[in-house]
Amino acid sequence: MIFSQKDLQNNFYLDNIKQSRMFFILILNKTKITVRKTMSSLNGKVVLITGGSSGIGATCALKSSERGATVIIADLKKQAAEEVLASLPNKGYYFDLDICNESQWIKLHDFVINTTGKLNILLHCAGISLPGNIETTDFTLWKKIHDINLNGTYLADHYAIKLMKLNDENNAIVNISSAMSLKSFSFTTAYCSSKAGVDALTKCVALHCGESKLNIRCNSVHPGAIHTPMLEKYLDMMSQDCSRDEAQAMFDANHPIGHCGQPDDIANAALFLASDDAKFITGALLPVDGAQSIS
Ligand SMILES: NC(=O)c1ccc[n+]([C@@H]2O[C@H](COP(=O)([O-])OP(=O)(O)OC[C@H]3O[C@@H](n4cnc5c(N)ncnc54)[C@H](O)[C@@H]3O)[C@@H](O)[C@H]2O)c1
Repeated sequence: MIFSQKDLQNNFYLDNIKQSRMFFILILNKTKITVRKTMSSLNGKVVLITGGSSGIGATCALKSSERGATVIIADLKKQAAEEVLASLPNKGYYFDLDICNESQWIKLHDFVINTTGKLNILLHCAGISLPGNIETTDFTLWKKIHDINLNGTYLADHYAIKLMKLNDENNAIVNISSAMSLKSFSFTTAYCSSKAGVDALTKCVALHCGESKLNIRCNSVHPGAIHTPMLEKYLDMMSQDCSRDEAQAMFDANHPIGHCGQPDDIANAALFLASDDAKFITGALLPVDGAQSIS
């Protein structure tokens, strides 16, 4: 049975039904309507997802497709990408890309023009994390982590902007950084440093695009520990010295909220920043980390 506002005002049903229950139902209905209205569709948008074969990137691919976007996954792992693409409700493409290789970015640029014809959103998820403090991190490891996480982000943003300038629609870049760029840990020195570089780059890109009146926003998302293969590798490493449950408990305890996050926690935030709902947000660094970075 549906009650109109007028019915309520007339107090017609209030004799028979508890007021509190009715108001609760009305509030719930209104909330649902509001949520539906604010979730912008991605119909007609083309979304490039680096690192889309696994973890956060794979979830971003699914959620983008569910909201109507055409997805391009760019990654090193073709077979895993094909499995993700097979699960998408909308059309998707795969491009074999090492994000630190500029000549491959030039080929990706041409691939986008020849297939989807445009790019609206970059969700830059590809990255690696390897442990090491300042003493145990040798120069090879230092350079590898910075090459993938920082140089790779430079190339991603640089070539995304080239493509986005070809259309006159609303465009957005979301760089997946880390809570570890905001709060440092000695055991991941190179990772923290590389992601802090991503943050500075994000702000410079946002400033440049704004000052140049390009219709491109740029923001970053800062995940806490998220249940993906990346976290699994750390749990495996720690399980050599303690039980897996103890290792998981240590990660959970690093988050004031009491637990690690899920890939969709990050994908939801990234897609919000990428959507037109966030049209006045650029140059923002958004922690999605259960308060890890402020603890
Ligand atoms: N999982 C976490 O706890 C966590 C926390 C903070 C930040 N992040 C960041 O989130 C992003 C996604 O991580 P994830 O947890 O989904 O990891 P993941 O390992 O599940 O996925 C990373 C993806 O990036 C791809 N990739 C790695 N190097 C690449 C390269 N050179 N070229 C192309 N693709 C490459 C991998 O093939 C993989 O598909 C990363 O930037 C990571 O630093 C993750």
